[in-house]
Amino acid sequence: MKLRFFLLVTVFLVGLDKSNSTSKNKFPDYFKFGAATASYQVEGAWNEDGKGENIWDHITHTNPTYVENEDNGDVACDSYHKYKEDVAMLKDLGVDYYRFSLSWSRILPYGVAGSPVNKLGIEYYRNLTQELLDNGIEPMVTLFHWDTPEPLQELGGWPNPEMEEHYAYYARTVFEQLGDLVKIWLTFNEPKQTCLEGYGKGVKAPAFTTTGMADYKCTHTLIKSHAKAYHIYDEEFKSKQGGRVGMVIDTVWFEPASGSEKDAEAAERAIQFTYGWYGNPIILENYPQVMIDRIDERSKQQGFAQSRLPKFSEEEVNYIKGTYDFVALNMYTANYAEWKEETDISDVGYDSDLNVHLFMDDSWEESASSWLRVVPWGLRKTVNWLSKTYNNPEIFITENGVSDRGGIDDPQRINFYREYLSNLVDAIVEDGVNVTRYTAWSLMDNFEWGSGYSEKFGLYSVDFSSPERTRTKKASADYYSQVISTRCLVDSCE
Ligand code: NOJ
Repeated sequence: MKLRFFLLVTVFLVGLDKSNSTSKNKFPDYFKFGAATASYQVEGAWNEDGKGENIWDHITHTNPTYVENEDNGDVACDSYHKYKEDVAMLKDLGVDYYRFSLSWSRILPYGVAGSPVNKLGIEYYRNLTQELLDNGIEPMVTLFHWDTPEPLQELGGWPNPEMEEHYAYYARTVFEQLGDLVKIWLTFNEPKQTCLEGYGKGVKAPAFTTTGMADYKCTHTLIKSHAKAYHIYDEEFKSKQGGRVGMVIDTVWFEPASGSEKDAEAAERAIQFTYGWYGNPIILENYPQVMIDRIDERSKQQGFAQSRLPKFSEEEVNYIKGTYDFVALNMYTANYAEWKEETDISDVGYDSDLNVHLFMDDSWEESASSWLRVVPWGLRKTVNWLSKTYNNPEIFITENGVSDRGGIDDPQRINFYREYLSNLVDAIVEDGVNVTRYTAWSLMDNFEWGSGYSEKFGLYSVDFSSPERTRTKKASADYYSQVISTRCLVDSCE
């Protein structure tokens, strides 16, 4: 009862604060706007021109009901053939850059270290990149957006430490083949989803459910792979190519469910278990202490001979720390975090290691995705947290956006962008947070993983029933263009 009253008051006050107040602050001149997609979600051409099979091809073909409506990415938006149209859309939007990802299996069909490079795959990405540059749009390239080559999964996938060697070979190949054209590299997209959802909870390919173990091992290998790729770039390419490298990490904002110290502790623990799990080793040093302590202790009590959280050696800690040229954030929504009694010790898993009660407020506006409610002030709080926790780094927002069920007239999306951007510009101008880029997810409707094509995030709609995959501009695209050209969210800025 007390909690409900507190929540009502909080929501009311936040509402009061923001209701009539789209920011009049102007985005600084150096600030850049972009839009994003990812290979499996848009490219299609799943087996064309020598591309190998990846884990999403595999799961959608061998277990079609894994995805809503038995959708798959075999054709998706057909961007493999229609990339010039995509670039024309980006040009029309007026974005400064395009964030897209490379399909590892298109470049290295066998995936493994030392395997042959598919020239046609490289040609596709060179053509796309050149088309962007010819239109004055900067490429921002993600090396890995969840589509592990299937042969590597059959060797055990990310929990297998050997992945570091395979990823290093892939990264070096990509820097060699595309590094003359690309100056911003993102090693991994949302690794928590790869590890926790892919190997812990089974809701993303390859759909394993060994939480509290495989998800930690996956993360361990993945962080080492990131660091290796960073060093390869730094030592072999940076002086010639002059680019920058970072990792995209996602989190929701965790708001304490009450003013109590315990709920504040629960909220901080939750963000340490999400952003900090990846951010701390790379930006600070080692895993967050709260993760180390809790997982060590619970593992001991559960009778494990060693902690379920793998340990970095001192040498590894030093090799990993500092492997970032900017901090990148994907952020969409918020959760309330409430302290709770320790769960039954026999429960082995990430959720019980975290042990925080997380929930969303019914009054927050819904989207088409059950996990995503509209909480604009969460973005301002998240970037402030990053700035404080990681000593005021340069921050890129590499994804932010909202889903609906479709339609060209999309007022909810316009409202979403206006309110999130309003909080972002205030964080920059009023709080002094060093955010320099904002990326809308997504350029166009696409394959939304387990939800298939049912949830639409695009600024452009795509007609998935037509062989042409016809693209149509939505009202939100006009709105975003206007923000980009005026750098203002209202008619006139201060
Ligand atoms: C995060 C992921 O990077 C992207 O692939 C996904 O489509 C969006 N969030 C929306 O869920």
